[in-house]
Amino acid sequence: MEKQRIVSGMRPTGALHLGHYLGVLKNWVELQEDYRCLYFEADWHALTSEYKNPAIIAESTEDIVHTWLGVGIDPERSIIFRQSDIKAHAEFFLLLSMITPVSWLERNPTYKEIREELKEKDLGTFGFLGYPVLQAADIVIYHADKVPIGEDQLPHLELTREIVRRFNFLYGEGLLKEPKEILTTAPRVPGLDGRKMSKSYNNAIFIHETQAGLKEKVMQMLTDIKRMRRKDPGEPNDCNLYPFHDYFTDEAKRAEIRAGCRDASWGCVDCKRLLIKNLEAEFAPIWDKIAFYKGHKTLVDNILHEGGSRARALANITIEKVRDALRVG
Ligand code: TRP
Repeated sequence: MEKQRIVSGMRPTGALHLGHYLGVLKNWVELQEDYRCLYFEADWHALTSEYKNPAIIAESTEDIVHTWLGVGIDPERSIIFRQSDIKAHAEFFLLLSMITPVSWLERNPTYKEIREELKEKDLGTFGFLGYPVLQAADIVIYHADKVPIGEDQLPHLELTREIVRRFNFLYGEGLLKEPKEILTTAPRVPGLDGRKMSKSYNNAIFIHETQAGLKEKVMQMLTDIKRMRRKDPGEPNDCNLYPFHDYFTDEAKRAEIRAGCRDASWGCVDCKRLLIKNLEAEFAPIWDKIAFYKGHKTLVDNILHEGGSRARALANITIEKVRDALRVG
């Protein structure tokens, strides 16, 4: 049987960090086992908020693909491409915009929240309002069965389904496919200062960190503030560093850490050293692969080119059906 199709995108607006690694990328890598996956860099979506600084998009578009390949997104199995290489997304976006009520977009909770949050960015643009319509086009153009997303993106997927239903109602049942979500429980990855890890808070550990950089960052991480001195006992549940052991340290060792923290036989530095060691073990092969791809530009260009051709072939099938349905050229 033909594998089900997965579509997901990421906005290239800066380097990827452990939050992306744990919350999105590990999951993307696993999904390749059971699904036909299309993963793309949503550079047009990035423009909706970064239109004043397109250089950052160009830069991170290159960077991110190295990271994807480094963590194990496999171009043999998955289609990897850049959104703006497939112009049919834009055409589909335009056509879907004809049938999408503005009121649906204005009441979208993500839209309201982000406009509030990023007040300094001036997001009162037509493009930003239309963000979910472009996202619907990205997904539906490939007849995606499933879309792996975090909870914050659920309203966008619901809108996608509403647009599909309206399209099918107007032009013919079954023309477009309604996608379902695969909800990824994005872990709340704390940053160096205890707030959510985010590039804009300047508290992130990046995937492509150097060994020295990684060490320095872990060493400066906040732990349980009750442990002022080495002999003060602590509580792993109140510690900003301990959650990382959940991802990178096996359970036997974690039990030892928890007990050791509570009776102060383990110090925070011991705990940090172990985490550094385990992070290095996980990321050393990834760093090697990232360095390899960085040094092989033609190879990476070819991967994106090849992915683009395969994506385009699939997108063209849908866009032709849609043009026919709307009687346009
Ligand atoms: N809006 C998504 C985000 O910010 C990125 C995205 C764009 C996307 N198009 C998509 C995700 C299509 C899934 C499917 O994370």
